Amino acid sequence: MPEKPKSHGRLKTTATLKPRALLQDKPELVGAWEARIITLFPQAFPGVLGESLTGKALQDGLWRLGLIDLRPFGEGKHRNVDDTPAGGGAGMVLRADVLGRALDVAAEGVPTDRARWPIVYLSPRGRPMQQTDAQRFAKADGITLLCGRFEGVDERVLEEYGIEEVSLGDFILTGGEIAAQALIDATVRLIPNVLGNQASTEEESFSNGLLEHPQYTRPATWKGRDIPPILRSGNHAEMERWRKQQSLDLTRARRPDLWRAYCKAHGLDPEQG
Ligand SMILES: C[S@@+](CC[C@H](N)C(=O)[O-])C[C@H]1O[C@@H](n2cnc3c(N)ncnc32)[C@H](O)[C@@H]1O
Repeated sequence: MPEKPKSHGRLKTTATLKPRALLQDKPELVGAWEARIITLFPQAFPGVLGESLTGKALQDGLWRLGLIDLRPFGEGKHRNVDDTPAGGGAGMVLRADVLGRALDVAAEGVPTDRARWPIVYLSPRGRPMQQTDAQRFAKADGITLLCGRFEGVDERVLEEYGIEEVSLGDFILTGGEIAAQALIDATVRLIPNVLGNQASTEEESFSNGLLEHPQYTRPATWKGRDIPPILRSGNHAEMERWRKQQSLDLTRARRPDLWRAYCKAHGLDPEQG
């Protein structure tokens, strides 16, 4: 019989829901977007999210980070969180009962409506993350992220909790923590007031279904390469036209999938553009 988790494990973990150290002595804005992260490596957070604009926004209480250490939910004296795969095979799998206990704590005080509070398992099997996902997550009240390790998680957990699987791309990471940070970064920068210049999120790649035009800054000539003269002409209408054309050309050359979708949405022939 597996040993029951001791209450101190649960209490300790509940306490970590009050984002340890990260928000102490800092304002907590009512209703601020929150990411709750279930991980075996809570010390990996905030990581890069603690830097620059996302870090400042975290300090200012524009978003919150709740860390749920998976280890105290483990079984037995050693708080085991994983076991061998049913049916054999390499590696270890995170146990359903252990994950379930952590997910129940993560659900405390959050909406059950998945549109308002999605639960996401970072997974190479998931749908590749798109800008539209970041926009959807930013509109929610918050999100719970499950970071996998080893061979991943027991499938029954995904079914039981209605968890969506999101992938960072067609490659394998060692764990979900880096993917979780990428997802949070892409989401938090869309929350009002996080970026100094909100207009930049409207103009950047993917926001309009196209890749962004090339960017230049000083010096005007560098290693014999000039900034395109149009960008120094002061003719804003012409500059806009040039940027749009660059955006179209780049998307067509580099991302045929995006190009086809753009043409379809705008009633264009992908061969002609
Ligand atoms: C070594 S991977 C497990 C890979 C799994 N056995 C498979 O083949 O699909 C361990 C964990 O890293 C995370 N991970 C790995 N690659 C990822 C990706 N491309 N996107 C998101 N998360 C990923 C997941 O949380 C996963 O459970």
